[in-house]
Amino acid sequence: MTKLFIGLMSGTSLDGIDAVITEISSSGCKLIASHYQTFDEPLLSQLKLACRESTIDLNKLGSLDAELGTLYAETIKKLLAKANISAEQIAAIGSHGQTIQHSPTLQHPFTLQIGDPNQLAEKTGIRVVADFRRRDIAAGGQGAPLAPAFHNAVFRSSDENRIILNLGGIANVTVLLAQKEAPIVGFDCGPANTLMDQWCQQHFDQNFDRDGAIARTGSINKSLLDAFMRDEFFQKKHPKSTGPEYFSMQWLSAHLEDLTIEKTDVLATLCELTAYNIKVSLVTLPSCDRLIVCGGGSHNDFLIERLSHNLECLVETSTSHGVDPDWVEAMAFSWLAKQTLDGKFGNIPSVTGATKEVVLGAIYSA
Ligand SMILES: Nc1ncnc2c1ncn2[C@@H]1O[C@H](COP(=O)(O)OP(=O)(O)OP(=O)(O)O)[C@@H](O)[C@H]1O
Ligand SMILES: [Mg+2]
Repeated sequence: MTKLFIGLMSGTSLDGIDAVITEISSSGCKLIASHYQTFDEPLLSQLKLACRESTIDLNKLGSLDAELGTLYAETIKKLLAKANISAEQIAAIGSHGQTIQHSPTLQHPFTLQIGDPNQLAEKTGIRVVADFRRRDIAAGGQGAPLAPAFHNAVFRSSDENRIILNLGGIANVTVLLAQKEAPIVGFDCGPANTLMDQWCQQHFDQNFDRDGAIARTGSINKSLLDAFMRDEFFQKKHPKSTGPEYFSMQWLSAHLEDLTIEKTDVLATLCELTAYNIKVSLVTLPSCDRLIVCGGGSHNDFLIERLSHNLECLVETSTSHGVDPDWVEAMAFSWLAKQTLDGKFGNIPSVTGATKEVVLGAIYSA
C-alpha cells in the first residue's frame, strides 16, 4: 500500500531544516514535495553555542529543544500548505533532530539530538518517530551513519559496485556492492563542509564557498594536507563516526599554528582534504564503478572536480538517478520512520558496529 511520510532533517552544517513529503510503496520512495527553512539569527547563534562551543546552560538547552520542535512544526505546516496535502494524509513524520553532541566512544556513549518531538506531534497532529540514533548506540553501535539502509533500498544495483557519498557537514559513504550477499559497508569519513563553511564565514564573510569558487583560486598546500591526514580519526578502521565537535575550528587552528598560509590556500586544502580523504578511506574496499554524490556539497563544483581527480570511478550526483541530492537525507528519515512503524530494523550492524539489528526510534502518537 502506498503511504505518505514526512522526513525532517537539520544537519551538522547548521544551514537550516530540510523537510520532504515522500510516497513510499513496494516499488520505491518518491519525492512528492519539499521545503527548506532557514534559522533566524538569534536561533542560529544559540544552536552554534550548543553545537560548536558546548557552552550553553541547561535552561537554554531545554528551551532551545522546545523552540526547535515548534519551528519544525511550523516548517511542516508550510510544507503541507505548499503541497496542498492535509495532516490526515500523512502516516508519520520521521524527525532526525539537531545533533548537539555525538560521543559514541565514551565509556557511557551517547548522542544527543534536540527538536522536541512532543511539540512536533502536538502542534501538527501527526504521529512522530524521533530519537533514531540512541537505540543503535544501546545495541553497541556508533548510532551513525543511519542513511545506508535507505541508500541500499534506493541506489543498489546488481550490475555494478556503487558508493553513495553524502557531503553534508560531515562526509559519509555507503558501499553497495553488486554481489547480492555482500554486506553493506558505511562510515563517516571526516569533514566535508563543516570546516570549509566556518572558514568562509570567518575570512570571506560568506556562509559557504558557493560552487567552490573561492577554493578554486587557491593552491592546495601539500604539507598542510599531509598534517591534516595524520589525524588519528583518518587512521581508524570503520565502523566509525564523527561530528563537528571533533572536526572543529580548534582542530583547524591547531594545524595552522606557526604557519603562514594564504586564506584561499587553506580553503583549497580543506576542499582537497574532503576529496583526498574519500580516496584514502576507500583504498581497502573492493573497487567502485560509480560514486553517487548527494548533500549540499554536491553543488561545490571544485570539490566534485577534485573527487573525480582523486578517484578512478565515474563520479556523478544522485540527480542522474532521479533523486535530488538536496533531499536524500530528509527522504532517508521519512523511510526510516516507516521502517519503525512497520516494526522493521533500521540500522545495519556492519555499518554502525551494533551487535544486532534494531528497530530505531521512539513513536509519539498524534
Ligand atoms: N552551491 C553550493 N556550492 C557549494 N557548497 C554548497 C552549495 N550549496 C550548498 N552547499 C554546501 O552544503 C551545505 C549544506 O549541506 P547539507 O544540508 O547536505 O548538510 P547538513 O545540513 O550538514 O546535512 P547532513 O548532516 O544531513 O549531511 C552548506 O552548508 C554548504 O556548505
Ligand atoms: Mg542541511
